[in-house]
Amino acid sequence: MDEFEGKIAVITGAGSGIGRSLAVAAARRGMTVIAADIEEPPLNDTVAEILADGGTATAFPTDVSDAGSVQRLADYAFGEHGGVHLLCNNAGVFSGGLSWERTVADWEWAIGVNLYGIVHAIRSFVPRMIALDTECHIVNTASMGGLITNAYSGPYYASKFAAVGATECLAHDLISINAKIGVSVLVPSLIATNIGSSERNRTERHIDRLSPEMTPDAAFVSQMLRDSTSAGMPPADVAELVFDAVRHGHFYIPTKPSYQAQIAARHDAMTRYELPASAQLD
Ligand SMILES: NC(=O)c1ccc[n+]([C@@H]2O[C@H](COP(=O)([O-])OP(=O)(O)OC[C@H]3O[C@@H](n4cnc5c(N)ncnc54)[C@H](O)[C@@H]3O)[C@@H](O)[C@H]2O)c1
Repeated sequence: MDEFEGKIAVITGAGSGIGRSLAVAAARRGMTVIAADIEEPPLNDTVAEILADGGTATAFPTDVSDAGSVQRLADYAFGEHGGVHLLCNNAGVFSGGLSWERTVADWEWAIGVNLYGIVHAIRSFVPRMIALDTECHIVNTASMGGLITNAYSGPYYASKFAAVGATECLAHDLISINAKIGVSVLVPSLIATNIGSSERNRTERHIDRLSPEMTPDAAFVSQMLRDSTSAGMPPADVAELVFDAVRHGHFYIPTKPSYQAQIAARHDAMTRYELPASAQLD
């Protein structure tokens, strides 16, 4: 897909970080943006920023972990705007710590947002995008944490590995029916966003009633993430990489050259039947 002007973009997680930058970048390319997020004040700020910039955008509060909420987003996009040409399933949360210390609620929250957010969108948007029978593109945000592993991040990395798998399968499915829908998966390294403060968006149904407090291991890894992401790539640069990849039809969208060596090292270890070395996001 290389024409964006006058087309419709739906972007989840548009209230902050990478999602906000994707929304701004889409509007600057002349797209009408439907910005979705669970956190309303920053979502409204994104829309205000786009309008002040002369673009067109609407805020649509959405919880991507809730199938009904994603269905309402799709109904709005197709009902009011007549179609969706670029769908960025980008909303995400970090939940980390020692795997055995994590509660069921922790696992369900990470998988609910990072995997089911994508699954619900596939089910609600893709049939209607296929019916449009015009050039479209879907970008799912996973992570380098969906391709490499290390300690203290089980729920997040597991959800992102699943997001990568679901996105590869979606691409194969669409190819098998000759659909005009391109697919990409964004696999960022460290980006300067608010991901290290994900707890701000934990929904009631994803809180463990028995142990609502963060355990020391989870608090430690969240702090580490805040420290390391603050020196990461600016999200606006990521948005440019995404639009470039969509134009060129690239499936994988990494943000750092270290991607090559990290993937090669993982696959080398796998062919030797070994546990891949712990690889830190950089
Ligand atoms: N920042 C990084 O270093 C990094 C690295 C790899 C991957 N990612 C991924 O990038 C994506 C964007 O995250 P970010 O880094 O911009 O973080 P961020 O916290 O700045 O933005 C994430 C957005 O998702 C929204 N969100 C959270 N739960 C939601 C829900 N249930 N429904 C709808 N929206 C919800 C948040 O409100 C927020 O606006 C995520 O999928 C994240 O996992 C980030």
